[in-house]
Amino acid sequence: MALKIGLLGLGTVGTGTAQILLDSQGRHPLLQEIEIHRVGVRSPDKPRSVQLPDGVITTDLEAIVTDPTVDIVVELLGGLEPARSLILKAIVGGKHVVTANKAVIARYGDEIYTAANKAGVYVLLEAAVGGGIPVIQPLKQSLGVNRIHAITGIINGTTNYILTRMQTEKGEFADILADAQQLGYAEADPTADIDGLDAADKIAILASLAFGGRIKLQDIYCEGIRKVSATDIAYAEKLGFTIKLLARASRYEPAADNTPEALQVRVHPTLVPQTHPLASISGVYNAIFVEGEPIGQVMFYGRGAGAGPTASAVVSDILNIAGVLKTKEAGTQKSVQSKIQNPKSKIDTLHPLLSCSHQHYCAIAPMNELVTRFYARFLTQDRPGVIGKLGTCFGNHSVSLESIVQTGLQGELAEIVVVTHDVREGNFRQALDEINSLDAIDSIPSILRVL
Ligand code: HSE
Repeated sequence: MALKIGLLGLGTVGTGTAQILLDSQGRHPLLQEIEIHRVGVRSPDKPRSVQLPDGVITTDLEAIVTDPTVDIVVELLGGLEPARSLILKAIVGGKHVVTANKAVIARYGDEIYTAANKAGVYVLLEAAVGGGIPVIQPLKQSLGVNRIHAITGIINGTTNYILTRMQTEKGEFADILADAQQLGYAEADPTADIDGLDAADKIAILASLAFGGRIKLQDIYCEGIRKVSATDIAYAEKLGFTIKLLARASRYEPAADNTPEALQVRVHPTLVPQTHPLASISGVYNAIFVEGEPIGQVMFYGRGAGAGPTASAVVSDILNIAGVLKTKEAGTQKSVQSKIQNPKSKIDTLHPLLSCSHQHYCAIAPMNELVTRFYARFLTQDRPGVIGKLGTCFGNHSVSLESIVQTGLQGELAEIVVVTHDVREGNFRQALDEINSLDAIDSIPSILRVL
């Protein structure tokens, strides 16, 4: 019996998903048993690049999630509402859900997975992070036996595209952003991408899977790329780094033994050593770098957005559910009575490697406790003793310097760039406060962390 899909949304990813499902030749044979039953859209008369069977399109999205014949609801609407409500209604109606909606999962994962576990249905989200890159299922399954130390990603293609162009063209952020918008690489309202909010949603999901607990979005430190300048990119390059917007979740290693176990989860522009695998990820590409024991380091790389790649992830989730239902169907075929009592899509026991059973929220350590290297650029009076005073202020707060360079003048002012050794962020900030009070300091145009 064919498995019936109710598709919510026929935009870029919805269209890509329909195209795969309608063209199963040469793909996994189970796809031939999956049927697009209904497709919910806002504008039914819009020209479409996919030929759907007659009568499939509707504007009544509620009717799809309450349709008793639909087995899997595929939510590709994006945005918070009505996506969240429709997902919850589908779950209550006993339907499995596949979604690409990182914003809804990062905010309402608790509500959604609690409802899903109660209803005995799956909510799968491979497409929500890294587009076509398989990373959600690998974290749940292939890497599941590892103790993860850190997960670090370039998980926003728009910002990676802008930073890559700033580096290759030596251009300023505002000019490259405007051009990226013209070319369709950045949204008309680019806030979610360039302020790091999209990456924060995604690292919340990745961290939750890697570290086995829920993450409160508001606990994630988030800083976007608006303040990254061509000057900093050029200095970084000279010092052997590439600036990337990184999202990182890592185990917090407390100084005191009695500090409770916690994570550090953050999104910010970062100087990445040119020798690090993440430094070579350019343009719209995404990559997720996982460090764990005993696996060591492993990196997932690919297209983080776009119709085909994202649809590949969506349909892989559909296929996973189809596989589980197929196994169940084979098991119940022996008993007619059992088949009547258990409709095809109802699962008695959720597969532990496909479902989500997190019960608690992870503690997140404050940024002041982060231990990292810093890059800072100062504009100062050009007079004797200034570098010495900077060094003294850093020393007063136990900040050890790895390098200090003064290569030129900006007008009348000297430009001094410092890279520290690993330091507690709280100490570094205290040193900056003291430096700011020096007469010789004009401004501190940039402070960036180093991977
Ligand atoms: N806006 C995202 C990006 C793609 O720029 O990577 C969808 O997650």
